[in-house]
Amino acid sequence: MASALTSIRVSGDDIEIVNQLLLPHVIEFIPITSIEEAHDAIKSMKIRGAPAIASLAALSLSSYISKALKADPQPPFLSGKDALRKHIQPLIDYLNTSRPTAVNLGAAMRRLSALLERVALDESVDVPQAARQLIEEGRAVADEDVGRNHAMAKLGADWLEGRAKQLGNDEKLNVLTVCNTGSLATSGYGTALGLITNLHETGRLGRAYFTQTAPYHQGSRLTAMELQALKIHSVMICDTMVGSLFQNHKIHGVVVGADRIAKNGDTANKIGTYNAAVLAARHKIPFVVVAPISTVDMAIPDGSHIPIEQRPAIEACLVRGAIYPPPDKDKPSQAVVMFTPPGLDADSIYNPSFDVTPAELITAIVTEKGVATRKEGEEVFSLNSVV
Ligand code: MRU
Repeated sequence: MASALTSIRVSGDDIEIVNQLLLPHVIEFIPITSIEEAHDAIKSMKIRGAPAIASLAALSLSSYISKALKADPQPPFLSGKDALRKHIQPLIDYLNTSRPTAVNLGAAMRRLSALLERVALDESVDVPQAARQLIEEGRAVADEDVGRNHAMAKLGADWLEGRAKQLGNDEKLNVLTVCNTGSLATSGYGTALGLITNLHETGRLGRAYFTQTAPYHQGSRLTAMELQALKIHSVMICDTMVGSLFQNHKIHGVVVGADRIAKNGDTANKIGTYNAAVLAARHKIPFVVVAPISTVDMAIPDGSHIPIEQRPAIEACLVRGAIYPPPDKDKPSQAVVMFTPPGLDADSIYNPSFDVTPAELITAIVTEKGVATRKEGEEVFSLNSVV
């Protein structure tokens, strides 16, 4: 099997992430040595992708507690349960503010908060034990990701093949994806890109198409790199070419990840996903969302409650990449280029990071637990069976 890329490397208490702002031309791992560095890496998008940011936040808390214990077996915040709670809860709250849309981060932080609350109240757990449980829980958030990605990838691939057959298509499947949902966006294998990888590994993939995904170009910078590493034959399209692709090529499915799925199935994902869904509906192409249960937010009834992150205006005016042609072919170069006239201000630029695809445009939602489809004639999902 071809080797995949890695977003986070962990060795004991040491955490490193690949700086995704420099990919694909420069591969540089940077250490994350504190909660503040984890927060900054997520906010500045050195690491991105809903599951990956939840993993880094949780790991950084584990590492913080573990390192503090090793430096001093009785640090002040372990002098009692109250001290533990007062010290750790603000760190969890702070990590939770790094990006607003992906609910996986909130879910991971809520999970750690709930454990903190439980161990604080449990008299049979002493303070060092409570600290160790928090360390383990943080690591579990990251470790659990890979296994569930394999599960949902297979479920989704089998479902898509079945749907294609129902529609009278026996050939290998051509699929389109948006953004980056592979090993760089998760702890490994990926969600929607995992589905594509599963189709490839099982000989069922025709061609994988992906959009460039402006303005951050997660498609052309990251998905392209992942598909190359996996030796999956793929075709890049500009975001504006989705309609043309559907008019001129047989596409069996659009598969995307998600940052938050509301109770009714409305789904927030990378900006441009909604456009692809509208066009898929027009062309009667199945539109499939693949995401872990931690992406489903049953606390909100519909997509209007999803907070949509507005990225800084300047980010929509820049492209990142290498100087071309390379001044020195043996030395990777890195450049950030402004392609708009100087002087545009925040009022002249619209830069939401995500959009919401209404449930009525989604054919199936796949989690590690199963595949949910909408009932005949209904515009919303019942997700109870897949969460
Ligand atoms: O802004 P990003 O790059 O973090 O956005 C990522 C996406 O929208 C992904 O599709 C989503 O997080 C799912 S990743 C498995």
